[in-house]
Amino acid sequence: MATSRLEDIFMMTLKDIYHGEKQIAKALPKMAKHAQSPHLKEALSHHLEETKGQVARLERVFQLLDKPPRGETCEAIKGLIEEGEEVMEKADNGAVCDAGMIGVGQAIEHYEIARYGTLMAWARQLGMTEATSLFEETLKEEKKADATLNDIALHEVNRKAA
Ligand SMILES: [Fe+2]
Ligand SMILES: [Fe+2]
Repeated sequence: MATSRLEDIFMMTLKDIYHGEKQIAKALPKMAKHAQSPHLKEALSHHLEETKGQVARLERVFQLLDKPPRGETCEAIKGLIEEGEEVMEKADNGAVCDAGMIGVGQAIEHYEIARYGTLMAWARQLGMTEATSLFEETLKEEKKADATLNDIALHEVNRKAA
């Protein structure tokens, strides 16, 4: 589809992350169940609850635009989740599996941070005040989730895995 409007790539990106978040919400319970470290388990379960709220925020943005919430397959998140599945299948040591899942989890967070940063900047440019704050709230949660995973890796899991 040819496009010359910022509004159009905004909508494309919104649909991409909406699908991505829904995939993440499906994958997180399995990862939490698989986690050996109680801290990691707790972090993943906590982020699942946040993710449900993030999906609701995205639905609010669709509503503000008077559009039905519809996703478009996010190949990036799909690929990262597949990578996570592979880690869970192949790592037969609990701590190594945890370390691998944190690696994948952080890759997902970084992708989300990039997407929400872009969406927030575009929403601001387009004068969408409420959407800008919604993206900002989610962006904060994604950054915090990334930092938490990083802490768990550096202070606990990597040592146990080595
Ligand atoms: Fe998210
Ligand atoms: Fe996230």
